[in-house]
Amino acid sequence: MNLSSLNPPQREAVEQTEGPLLILAGAGSGKTRVITMRIAHLVGRCRVPSENILAVTFTNKAAREMRERVVKLVGREACKGMTISTFHSLCARILREQIQHLGYKRTFSIYGAADQLRLVRDLVGDHCADVKLNAERLQWLISDAKGSLIEPEDYRPSSNEDHALALQKLYPLYQQRLKAYNALDFDDLLLLTERLFRLHPQVLEEYRTCFRYVMVDEYQDTNPAQYKLLHRLTGEHRNLCVVGDDDQSIYAWRGADIRNILGFEKDYPGTHVVRLEQNYRSSGNILAAANGVIKNNRTRREKALWTS
Ligand SMILES: Nc1ncnc2c1ncn2[C@@H]1O[C@H](COP(=O)(O)OP(=O)(O)OP(=O)(O)O)[C@@H](O)[C@H]1O
Ligand SMILES: [Mg+2]
Repeated sequence: MNLSSLNPPQREAVEQTEGPLLILAGAGSGKTRVITMRIAHLVGRCRVPSENILAVTFTNKAAREMRERVVKLVGREACKGMTISTFHSLCARILREQIQHLGYKRTFSIYGAADQLRLVRDLVGDHCADVKLNAERLQWLISDAKGSLIEPEDYRPSSNEDHALALQKLYPLYQQRLKAYNALDFDDLLLLTERLFRLHPQVLEEYRTCFRYVMVDEYQDTNPAQYKLLHRLTGEHRNLCVVGDDDQSIYAWRGADIRNILGFEKDYPGTHVVRLEQNYRSSGNILAAANGVIKNNRTRREKALWTS
């Protein structure tokens, strides 16, 4: 494989194969290119078995694109054993193999938003008919709690607001009802996988041994559940490479936690940091404007964008 198409910091990131690696970069600076080349380098040059590669992204589209880019680099055959997927489909797969440890059946169904809403409405009707509650808002609060790894029995309302108060009663009921139906909602995929890893170290060990090299694109968008999951998976071998943009956290409203990226070096001592500052997409004008906006962003790490 030819690394000469990479600029020096990109190349540095590709060749730094062992230990924690934090790649900080702006839009269009080749973040995804670095991850795909790094996978190709690990498999092609370092002879890492493809089964040991795990690359995670946030959307199905991003996962598909990443797989296509890796196929172009290493060929379809070498790509077969790799896991390139979203957090949710990775967790769904793990749970299909292991969920019996948590008292569910492996044939569980996955509830979409409409099913969830129906369930919340039923519960409100059965248990809180005297208060005026918005089911969508409750559903959102449950999702937010799960994304923050707050288990039903640990939920405490943070205010006297009706929905927050009702949730203390409804969230455990919601979860019991799901379990009775042998169903998981979308957020359970993460919540339950984290619980599985926490309560069953021998299961965790199996996946740790399998996923020896872990890469995450768009790391700035990870929520606490995803963060904890990654940490459990990689805390021992520490071969975790994350690529993040600390200036474009488009999922902030979903509970993504920018501190995940800012705190990475603290949680993974000895982290190697690479900054990709060359932009291959925008013109100089757009960049000047972007840098002006970014400057006002106080938690950001030192990073400037430039284009040749
Ligand atoms: N070293 C390079 N030489 C030439 N072109 C490059 C280089 N690095 C990246 N590019 C090109 O820049 C474009 C953006 O690359 P890529 O998608 O990897 O960036 P990204 O940082 O992941 O973007 P986004 O912010 O949209 O996720 C692509 O067309 C890619 O081929
Ligand atoms: Mg990208």
